[in-house]
Amino acid sequence: MSAAGDLFPGPRGPAGPAGRTVIVGVTGGIAAYKVCEVVSRLVKLGARVYVVMTRAATKFVAPLTFQTLSGNPVFIEMLEPPQLFNVEHVALAEKADLCVIAPATANIVAKIANGICDDLLTTVICATRAPVLICPAMNHNMYTNPIYQANEKRLRQLGYRFLEPGYGRLASGVVGRGRLPEPPEIVSAIASVFAGQGDYAGIEVLVTAGPTREFIDPVRCLSNPSSGKMGFAVAEAAAARGATVHLITGPSHLPDQAGVAVTRVVTAAEMHDAAIAAFSGDGVVIATAAVSDYRPPVALQHKIKKGAAHLTLELELTPDVLGSLGARKERAVLVGFAAETEDLIANARHKLVRKNLDLIVANDITEPGAGFETDTNIAHLVWPDGRIEQRPLETKRELAEHILTAVLPLVQRGAEGRDESPVTRGDPD
Ligand code: CTP
Repeated sequence: MSAAGDLFPGPRGPAGPAGRTVIVGVTGGIAAYKVCEVVSRLVKLGARVYVVMTRAATKFVAPLTFQTLSGNPVFIEMLEPPQLFNVEHVALAEKADLCVIAPATANIVAKIANGICDDLLTTVICATRAPVLICPAMNHNMYTNPIYQANEKRLRQLGYRFLEPGYGRLASGVVGRGRLPEPPEIVSAIASVFAGQGDYAGIEVLVTAGPTREFIDPVRCLSNPSSGKMGFAVAEAAAARGATVHLITGPSHLPDQAGVAVTRVVTAAEMHDAAIAAFSGDGVVIATAAVSDYRPPVALQHKIKKGAAHLTLELELTPDVLGSLGARKERAVLVGFAAETEDLIANARHKLVRKNLDLIVANDITEPGAGFETDTNIAHLVWPDGRIEQRPLETKRELAEHILTAVLPLVQRGAEGRDESPVTRGDPD
């Protein structure tokens, strides 16, 4: 076993930042301001974040900022009552599933490399068995200084992970290497430390999300109010559980997620082509997208001018993304969604059979808390063998977790070479 393996047994528990305790060490560099967003993103991903600041760091960002963003007290060694010191550094070091230092100055890298523990952060890092991710940010000359490079090399050999600084204009005005990477990249690096673990490790999850837009003319389109929240919640939950996730989304304001490959499309045809290209035939497909069923046969090049009292639009069917995947399905597990306003279960069953699905998640969008753009849903899980599982009002993330748990046995059977469906197909009615 490598020195790294001996030092850091690796993160425990499920993959992904959700539910994990991340200690974020902030040292004195101007890039400390970027770490506010890192903390905020980690909290949104469901991590418990504790920030430990060096005294120099507090000159750049107020501890109150990190306290507010993390929802936890901020630890600054010099301001702690001495009797708490031991308790805190041991408790934090043991609590950690991962320690991240961002920005990491040349000074802290040198101290860690030489076993110096003269403040709370260096002491926590020395005492922890959790993986440590160091994100250096400094002046180009300091970064390329052979003493710094030797310290980094030594730490890398011991199993400490480093996120390469970026190239660009540094605070000194000099252009060179030494910029702290942007927050999404740091969060991705954190997620990748946790990746490869969890019950979905090694499983491909393909998710469709959001609405599509079918253009009538350059300024008008057919679409719907889908926000993409359900699909993004599925993608985030799957990534947190170790899956290799590809999210294909129509227009949505939601940002890209750490550890998720995102393809942004506009039309149903684009979503169809992207999904077919991404579908490997294995793993799970979870189709939450609210795809437009019809489109104008041609999008007009110029805006339709107001004039006639009545206007008739001719429309044609769009490709059925999930239907096409269902037609190609062999081993993969396919989950559809059915947003209905009437005959919920009967309509859902029809779609289950028509699209060759393994599960359909039906919801009545007229129910309060179950419609478009909400953070919650009330779902019925309708299975091919006739079983119906009614879910309570719950967050989209909770429903996402439940769906992933429910289909996991099917996916595992598929991975073992499933020859026939484990459940008998029911009558659509
Ligand atoms: N779906 C799809 N491509 C389409 C239409 C739907 O992939 N062109 C998927 C949705 O993402 C969802 C499932 O199929 O997972 C059911 O979608 P829904 O709109 O409820 O059903 P439709 O097949 O469009 O039927 P209808 O509009 O008549 O209810």
